[in-house]
Amino acid sequence: MILEGRRVLVTGGAGFIGSNLIEKFLEQDNYITCLDNLSTGRMDNIFGFLDHPRFNFLKGDIRSLDDCRNAVHGSEIVLHQAALGSVPRSINDPITSNDVNVGGFLNMLVSSKRWWN
Ligand SMILES: NC(=O)c1ccc[n+]([C@@H]2O[C@H](COP(=O)([O-])OP(=O)(O)OC[C@H]3O[C@@H](n4cnc5c(N)ncnc54)[C@H](O)[C@@H]3O)[C@@H](O)[C@H]2O)c1
Repeated sequence: MILEGRRVLVTGGAGFIGSNLIEKFLEQDNYITCLDNLSTGRMDNIFGFLDHPRFNFLKGDIRSLDDCRNAVHGSEIVLHQAALGSVPRSINDPITSNDVNVGGFLNMLVSSKRWWN
């Protein structure tokens, strides 16, 4: 996908998929905000972007509607990659997996819709 000069929010940007998206979209002259709570992601994945003038890191949690609203504010495009993977994890702790993967996703949808309306 080619985007240029757009304001892009990447949730889960400190994770595997998100950090690779950030690298690509910074190369294409976009302005990136990354929202991540670093639960499974690593600062190492975004360390190289921290000094970049078009990169902004927000440590926050998609289970918080306020964190989602704050992150979405001003964004034109949202790439929602924040999630808790692993079937064994979801069996061991289904409440947390549901809160993040279902509730957090809903928070992102509601926040994105409110920003545009
Ligand atoms: N890696 C793959 O090969 C692959 C393939 C297909 C689909 N996916 C999907 O892509 C998404 C990302 O996968 P990934 O491999 O990058 O996983 P990952 O664990 O590397 O990244 C997920 C990121 O989300 C963050 N996160 C988790 N809970 C959060 C919360 N409550 N608030 C904010 N941030 C939170 C983590 O800290 C992490 O940085 C997942 O939905 C996954 O199922 C991944």
